[in-house]
Amino acid sequence: MRYRSLLAGLAAACCCVAAQAAGEHERRLAAEIAVMAGDTRRLMAGEGGPLEREGLVKRLNGALSSLPLSLRRAKSDPSSVVAMRASIKRRDWRALAAVLATLKRRHPFDPRLLLVAAPTAEMRALGASIHTTTCAGCHDAASGDSLLPAKNLSAQLASMPREEFAARLLLGVRGDRTTGLRNPFSDFELAALIASYSRPSGTR
Ligand code: HEC
Repeated sequence: MRYRSLLAGLAAACCCVAAQAAGEHERRLAAEIAVMAGDTRRLMAGEGGPLEREGLVKRLNGALSSLPLSLRRAKSDPSSVVAMRASIKRRDWRALAAVLATLKRRHPFDPRLLLVAAPTAEMRALGASIHTTTCAGCHDAASGDSLLPAKNLSAQLASMPREEFAARLLLGVRGDRTTGLRNPFSDFELAALIASYSRPSGTR
């Protein structure tokens, strides 16, 4: 009897871990889609210099290469990826944005854990100290036109919907693609970073 309940407990724990992994996978997929949609919007709006735009196209193509697998893992239909590839080839940002908008509705990114309505002073201080020690070296230097500019993060947050910035932050402190770093921060630390980047104007 005791053995059976132990087995039941183990099964429940495995289920829980599996459900968590699936949840995390779905969350990252939703964030990827939100960032792709944001990058497409930037291309459509003609933002950035020629090199940065080329970098955005490269990044979109890179994201598309892992998207079919991620969609399949989320039990979603990957067939739209072919059309998206063709749109990028034609530089047809409007068509790409339309497909991404549909995917976004199917896989909405939930930024609630990362966006705190009224962060405390301690939280802002935590964000600011993580930024100074780990991010400022690259992000606070002036960025000219390059393939992968590291931008001022407060300015970047101000230039886009907060949800999109949260998705970008969740996908990681990437440096560049070659480092392949995964995000080492907890949701609370990411929320603290966002809080520190969204200081009321004039205080930063
Ligand atoms: C070694 C340099 C380096 C460090 C350190 C670094 N970054 Fe970056 N970061 C970059 C570069 C380069 C890019 C632009 C390339 C890209 O977006 O993939 C970038 C892009 C980003 C983006 C935007 C991604 C997007 O989708 O446009 C965010 C957000 C970001 N970094 C946050 C951080 C935070 C937060 C930290 C510190 C915890 C950090 N980075 C540390 C170099 C760095």
